Amino acid sequence: MTTTIDSILHEHRLFVPPQAFAAAARIKSRAELAALQHQADQDHEAFWAGLAQQEITWQRPFQSILDSSRAPHYAWFKDGLLNVSYNCLDRHLPERGEKTAIVFEGEQGDVQRLTYAELHREVCRFANTLKRLGITSGDRVVIYLPMIPEAVIAMQACARIGAIHSVVFGGFSADSLRDRIEDAGARMLITADGGHRGGKIVELKAAADKALAKGCPSIESVLVYRRTGHEIAMQDGRDVWWHEAIAKATAQCPPEWVGSEHPLFLLYTSGSTGKPKGIQHSSGGYLLGAITTMKWVFDIRDDDLFWCTADVGWITGHTYVAYGPLAVGATLLMYEGAPTVPDAGRFWDICARHKVSIFYTAPTAIRALMKLGDAFPTAHDLSSLRLLGTVGEPINPEAWMWYHRVIGHERCPIVDTWWQTETGCHMLAPIPGAVATKPGSCTLPLPGIVADVVDEQGNSITMPDQGGHLVIKKPWPSMLRTIWGDDARYVSTYWGKFDGKYYLAGDSARRDADGYFWIMGRADDVIKVSGHRLGTMEIESALVAHPRVAEAAVVGRPHDIKGEAIFAYVVLRGSRPVGGVDEALTRELRDWVGEQIGAIAKPDDIRYADNLPKTRSGKIMRRLLRTLASGQAITQDTSTLENEGILLQLQGKA
Ligand code: PRX
Repeated sequence: MTTTIDSILHEHRLFVPPQAFAAAARIKSRAELAALQHQADQDHEAFWAGLAQQEITWQRPFQSILDSSRAPHYAWFKDGLLNVSYNCLDRHLPERGEKTAIVFEGEQGDVQRLTYAELHREVCRFANTLKRLGITSGDRVVIYLPMIPEAVIAMQACARIGAIHSVVFGGFSADSLRDRIEDAGARMLITADGGHRGGKIVELKAAADKALAKGCPSIESVLVYRRTGHEIAMQDGRDVWWHEAIAKATAQCPPEWVGSEHPLFLLYTSGSTGKPKGIQHSSGGYLLGAITTMKWVFDIRDDDLFWCTADVGWITGHTYVAYGPLAVGATLLMYEGAPTVPDAGRFWDICARHKVSIFYTAPTAIRALMKLGDAFPTAHDLSSLRLLGTVGEPINPEAWMWYHRVIGHERCPIVDTWWQTETGCHMLAPIPGAVATKPGSCTLPLPGIVADVVDEQGNSITMPDQGGHLVIKKPWPSMLRTIWGDDARYVSTYWGKFDGKYYLAGDSARRDADGYFWIMGRADDVIKVSGHRLGTMEIESALVAHPRVAEAAVVGRPHDIKGEAIFAYVVLRGSRPVGGVDEALTRELRDWVGEQIGAIAKPDDIRYADNLPKTRSGKIMRRLLRTLASGQAITQDTSTLENEGILLQLQGKA
């Protein structure tokens, strides 16, 4: 982390919006942006209400804008009635029925296009199927699918009937899937036989079977989409093939009108305890955030081809694949597979062949592809690109410059968007026609978002470049509403530190002399590995569940491609391996974590010690472990260590 922060500190380059881009953009200048910002500052609620009226088609208009009477439980537009799927599909049919909504490319090269009319029809048929299988408004449905159009169809169908979906990333293990199904109390699971990724089949149905065999009593039916066609087990009375289930379903399915606060979805994410939290989002407020940011930050146009590479299992794949692009009537691209199949030019090949105009990905992907050389991108015609974006973790200036030069040909603005599962949509990001960018900075808060950097007491830090807590000082429409089944945790995690006044993001940040925000990383026990958010405690719990492990401490260490890598310190039951090396056990523990959580959580390094470094009061010295994991010299005071002798073991020197 420190190295990134250091290099960022020396970053002074400024990239003004290209004139041609600004001239055609919705918001064309800092002055136009300032005018919008001024409106928001003058009357925060009226600003959002105006947008909600303009951007959303309501079945019944709202009278109340923001209800703060139960703060920090905020309700936006609560007496308004709407349907999110209606807003994403039906309202476009008169003008855009024949327009392509989704361009899909499978890893094996199969391409499929769905118009708005076709997507609407499939969503309606699937929604009718859900209803026939007994799903009603408010029921939870877990979706565990590959990146295929059916994932969007399933999500939109849930939204259409008021069911609450919870998408579980296909890379999560059977155990993680089971935990999420059980926490949500889901009645149905929607999955596939498998998906194609990295030249292999991802065995989704097999994992689903394993999850259900171990628990999940609330699941009544499992819908299975046939994607790979390989042999899988189907359980009579529980499992139903998607294509058979929809065969008789009609394409007429009137939307279920729901209140603006009706939960649209849950999405589980990691925090600083061992248990992932089900972040609950609303319908009206969430949709508004998705729409405004599609327009402001992506400056989306009717003729754009918008490609967000995120999986639907993450928030980015919700807001900028399944909902945002459709809500504004755009054409989106979905790709099923890995960026390196058949070679590291796949992303650029897709951009060139389909003429992608807006490309949005994670810094980790940029760094990985940058490392493989310029020959891959330069072999493809990238002239259709007009805007680039990044999300998920800080981007180092070197990767930013490569993206700018080699992918954007110095012509495309880069929007570095800071946001979170909890915030629902972009919060800090440049408006590309108006805000000059600096490599590594997510620039400024969007209109209507009141962000600040504060000290431990909650006072604004006015001194440039001094780090503090990133907070949001006023509620915003697309904010999370609670943590499913654990409202007390919602209140304490996000609102506890500053007495309910400010939303605590959990990141540390600083502002430079121009007021630009620079994200310095997480301030809690969360790490970002290849942009995936993982709780160190979650990995620790997985490790200590192994019969040979007595204690474990997990930290992140800097990694030049993944951003952070997982470093685990392990104390075994019984004796430490001779010289600290036991390759077979290390492999076993890595696989064990893979089974408990998913392959993304497998530790990169495991180091065995007789003890963990603790203060005399028994607290694990995590900062010291981070220093050791990154191979840096110890600057901390280690005199309070219970057992100073273990330092050599922890450094891998004994
Ligand atoms: O630490 C920040 C980092 O990702 C966290 C949120 O993770 P998640 O809920 O998985 O959502 C990721 C996609 C929105 C944040 O607390 N983060 C996200 N975007 C950026 C970022 N860090 C730096 N720069 C960003 N643009």
